[in-house]
Amino acid sequence: MDASRIRNFCIIAHVDHGKSTLADRLLERTGTLSSRQMVDQVLDQMELERERGITIKLTAVTMEYTARDGSRYLLNLIDTPGHVDFSYEVSRSLAACEGALLVVDASQGVEAQTLANFLLALDHGLEIVPVINKIDLPNARPDEVAQEIEETLGLEAASALRISAKTGQGVDEVLEAIVRQIPPPRGDSAGPLRALIFDSHFDSYRGVVAYVRVVDGQIQVGDRIRLMSSGQEYETDGLWVFRPALVPVDRLDAGQVGAITAGIKEIRHARVGDTVTSAARPAAEPLPGYRPPLPMVFSGLYPVDSEEYPRLRDSLERLRLNDAALSFEPESSAALGFGFRCGFLGLLHMDIVQERLEREFDLELVTTAPSVAYRVKLRGGREATVHNPAEWPDPGSIEAVLEPYVRATIVTPGDYVGPVMELCQERRGQFVGMEYPVPSRAVVTYDLPLAEILLDFYDRLKSVTRGYASLDYRYIEHREGDLVKLDVLINGRPVDALSCIVHRDKAYHRGRRLVERLKELIPRQLFEVPIQAAIGSRVIARETLRALRKDVLAKCYGGDVTRKRKLLERQREGKRRMKQLGVVEVPQEAFMAVLRID
Ligand code: GTP
Repeated sequence: MDASRIRNFCIIAHVDHGKSTLADRLLERTGTLSSRQMVDQVLDQMELERERGITIKLTAVTMEYTARDGSRYLLNLIDTPGHVDFSYEVSRSLAACEGALLVVDASQGVEAQTLANFLLALDHGLEIVPVINKIDLPNARPDEVAQEIEETLGLEAASALRISAKTGQGVDEVLEAIVRQIPPPRGDSAGPLRALIFDSHFDSYRGVVAYVRVVDGQIQVGDRIRLMSSGQEYETDGLWVFRPALVPVDRLDAGQVGAITAGIKEIRHARVGDTVTSAARPAAEPLPGYRPPLPMVFSGLYPVDSEEYPRLRDSLERLRLNDAALSFEPESSAALGFGFRCGFLGLLHMDIVQERLEREFDLELVTTAPSVAYRVKLRGGREATVHNPAEWPDPGSIEAVLEPYVRATIVTPGDYVGPVMELCQERRGQFVGMEYPVPSRAVVTYDLPLAEILLDFYDRLKSVTRGYASLDYRYIEHREGDLVKLDVLINGRPVDALSCIVHRDKAYHRGRRLVERLKELIPRQLFEVPIQAAIGSRVIARETLRALRKDVLAKCYGGDVTRKRKLLERQREGKRRMKQLGVVEVPQEAFMAVLRID
């Protein structure tokens, strides 16, 4: 089809403002899927999966639409992941589009992710169509929200569409706006092939399915392709479009959105953001903006049962087939034995991986508190990256330490500005700016150490604003900080997996709270156990776990066998997640205690 009849767009919104509901309505209105078919379609796909082992992920869909001008258009809707952990992926999805629908809830107004996504879309030069959703709600205030959009985002909002994705009211106008306001793709259809990978997944039957936006040139089945970041070459064995199931086609032209399969065995070889070109006639330059995924949060994963180590390694390798952002390397800990130091994009990504390992692979894990990547400048000009406190260099050899900072945007009702600023200050935030786009609402910007956000920052923010504030943040740079390593000694032995890196000013307080918390979490033993916090050789806090004669059957005078068994079983249950540290047993919670200390 003529590129002038193609529109590539995405929907950006704060969580829960109605992105998925609007997408469903668009599919319905264009007859791509009726609600009845939605069910059938899903079943079809499952059948397909059963027969040929193809897994399908709906991250893009092509709709056919006959506009009021009588012409037929192809509308490609590209999904964007919503969470801040995946901001780079969001940015690649945006790079595949010419326009974006910016959905704002008529009862909630502009929130932190609305702002953050809007700024990203603006960066990519997208045409932005504001859409005020949920006007059917009794507490909808579309006029105010329109004013807010105008003042916060500088978009002309008097003409903003006012819709209800739920009832369908106004949705036809959205389709017309896509055709009229969003420009058709520009690109050099005669030039060498350049296609942007904006998403990908691993399919056990076809290998990697790379979702692409063809920017220049064209690609046909059988063409040899080259991935520009690695130089690796493959032969295209399939080209697909999303209808919304994958339908095979012979070629994809400039402006089009589709998928390429080429027998690529690992997702790392066809990463999001990479450019696909032709091996025979390669493009001189890749499309701008490629970045290898940058892990920001690190944590040690150890099997509770050390015999499970090989299975943990296999499971991580399996996960990595489908998750280009997951990194891991073997690590050993004096306290926990053999495990892996894993790198994640953020906390959500970390949770997802840990949960999948436990659920899908049935592994029992002890995870250490997450840490960030510090850049440590050593005397003599060397520099080391440390993402495991246990590898912290000798303090005497350290010249300076740099830690990752994020820029955080917090949108809050005006009444809570005080507590929000207090919280940010307490977390070593550096004030950047504040605006009141409308009198009732403030946008507060701070630069914060990422390490301070890993602690319970989001929970605290929600609690000091009674749930009203929203938060978005992005990594900006590493900055210098006065950081020290806080060690924990249990029964006189340093427990490497409990060490953490803290700001010097907070070390005393943190050490104090940490030993108190550990005292609560570690069950009493048959002997007295000292718990100490130390910086270098200086002990800064100490608690003592009193001795206990731990005989669970003591209370069970004689008789009842079932009751005895129950008690013994309960004791065994309690033991499951413990690690034997020397002679002391330490439960999983203790390793995460570092996190929940204010
Ligand atoms: P995530 O998928 O979590 O990012 O959220 P989303 O932005 O996709 O929102 P979703 O479409 O899941 O909608 C969130 C909630 O709002 C759901 O309970 C919807 O039923 C509801 N909702 C969406 N649009 C409307 C609307 O126009 N009116 C009303 N009353 N509710 C709506």
